[in-house]
Amino acid sequence: MITTLLLWIVLAASIHYVFLHYVKYGKVNQIPGPMALPLFGNVLSIMGTTHDIWMYIRKMSQEHFPIYSIWTLTYPFLNIVHPNDIETLIGNPKFTYKGLQYQFMLPWLGSGLLTSYGAMWQTRRKMLTPAFHFNVLQQFVEILIEQGEGFVQTLKNEKGPVVKDLWQLMSEHTLNIICETAMGVSLKDKEKEFQLKYRSAVSQMAQFPIYRVTKPWYGFDTTFNHSPAGWKHNKLLKILHGFTSKIINERKQYHKQTNYRYITGFDDKPYKMENDIEDGGRKKRLAMLDLLIAAHRNNQIDDVGIRDEVETFMFKGHDTTAMCFCYTLMLLAEHPEIQDRVRAEVKVVMEQNGGKWNISAVQQLSYLERCIKESLRLYPVVSAIEIHSIGRIRMISIRIGFYLKIPLDDILILTYLSALVQEIALGKSSLCWN
Ligand code: HEM
Repeated sequence: MITTLLLWIVLAASIHYVFLHYVKYGKVNQIPGPMALPLFGNVLSIMGTTHDIWMYIRKMSQEHFPIYSIWTLTYPFLNIVHPNDIETLIGNPKFTYKGLQYQFMLPWLGSGLLTSYGAMWQTRRKMLTPAFHFNVLQQFVEILIEQGEGFVQTLKNEKGPVVKDLWQLMSEHTLNIICETAMGVSLKDKEKEFQLKYRSAVSQMAQFPIYRVTKPWYGFDTTFNHSPAGWKHNKLLKILHGFTSKIINERKQYHKQTNYRYITGFDDKPYKMENDIEDGGRKKRLAMLDLLIAAHRNNQIDDVGIRDEVETFMFKGHDTTAMCFCYTLMLLAEHPEIQDRVRAEVKVVMEQNGGKWNISAVQQLSYLERCIKESLRLYPVVSAIEIHSIGRIRMISIRIGFYLKIPLDDILILTYLSALVQEIALGKSSLCWN
C-alpha cells in the first residue's frame, strides 16, 4: 500500500517536473543554472541565513555568468548578472512591473513608489518628482549639515575609540534627516525609545521578502500569517504604521492650524523658494509630505496612499544611506592613506569657505564623493532588484546570442548590482578600493 502510494507520488512529481521544465517554462531550461530537483527546485540550497543565501548567489553568479536560472519549488527566477544587460533591462519602460519579493512588502509599503507599477507608479512618480528638484534639495543642506555635526559630536561623546554599533548611531541621524527634510517633522522632541523601535522594526521588516521567497510555503499569506514569523511581521507592521501615522498627523495638524495657506496652489510649483515658511526665526521648508497633503486636498490621493509613500520614503531614505555611510567609514578605517586624502580635502575646502559648510562647499568634495561611490560599488546597499516580466519579451542579453530570441512570459528576473558583477564583467576587482 505504502509502496504504491510512494510510486504514485514519484510519478506525479515526475510528470509535474516534465510539464514545468519542458512545457510551461521550456525556454528557461535552455538557460544554464544549478540542477533543480523535482518539486523542490533549488530551494534546499537557499534555505539558510541571509548570509548563506548571498554566498550561494554569488557562487552561482560566478559559475554561470552572465545569466542563469534558479527554481524555488515550481517557479523559475532568471538571474541577470552582466551590467550591460542590467542597464538594458532597467532602462526599458516595459519592465516596471515589480517581482515577487515586492508583493511581500505590500502590507507595509502598499502602493508606494517602490512597490507600485504601471499607471499608479507613473501618477505617483509625476506627483512626487518636483519634491526632489535640485532647488528643493538645496534648501535642505542646512539640515544635512546640522545632522552631520550632531553625528560628529555623538562620536566624540563615545567613550574610547571604538563604536560598538555604528549603524545605530548612523541611522538615528539619517532618520532625523529624512523626517525633517522630506516630511517636515523634527524628531528632536520625540521619544528616543519610539524612534529606536521604529528603526529596529524597519531592519527586521526588510528581511521578510527574502525570507518568504526562499521558504516558498510562506509565500501563501494563510500559512505565513499563522506562523511565528507572520505574528512577528504583524507586530512590526503596527510599530511601523504607528510611527508614520504620528509623523503624518503632526504635519496635517500643522497645515490645519495654519489654515492650509502654505500649501494652497503648492502642487504646481513646490520647488519655488517662496514656499519657505518663516517659523520662529528658522525657515521651515515645504517638502514631499506637504505635496502629498496638498494632493489629498485635491482628491488625488487618499490617506492610505499618503501613508504608503511616507512609509516608502522613510524606509528607503534612511536605511540605505545609513548603511552606505557605515560601509564608507569602514573602508576609510581600513585604508588610512585614503582617509588622510579625504581629511586633507575636507580641510582645504573648509579653509576656503571660512569654516562654514554650504551646498557649494559640499560640491567641492570630489575625492570624498569618489570614495562614497567606490564603497557603493564594493558594498551595494541595494544589491539586487527584481522585475516581473509580463508579456513576451525578447531575451535581453546581447552577449549570449544563443539566448537572444527566447521569449519569456511571466518570469521573475533578478538583477545583481554587486561588485562581483563588475569583477567578472569589467575586470575591476571586488576586493580592492580603487
Ligand atoms: C545610498 C543611498 C541609496 C541607494 C544605494 C539607493 C538605491 C536604490 C535602488 C537600487 C532602487 C531601485 C530599487 C528597486 O526597484 O527595487 C531605489 C529605489 C528607490 N529609492 Fe533609493 N537609494 C538610496 C537612497 C534613497 C533615498 C535617500 C531615498 C529617499 C529620499 C530613496 C528613495 C527611493 C524610492 C522612493 C525608490 C523607488 C523608486 C521608484 O521605483 O520609482 N532612495 N533606490
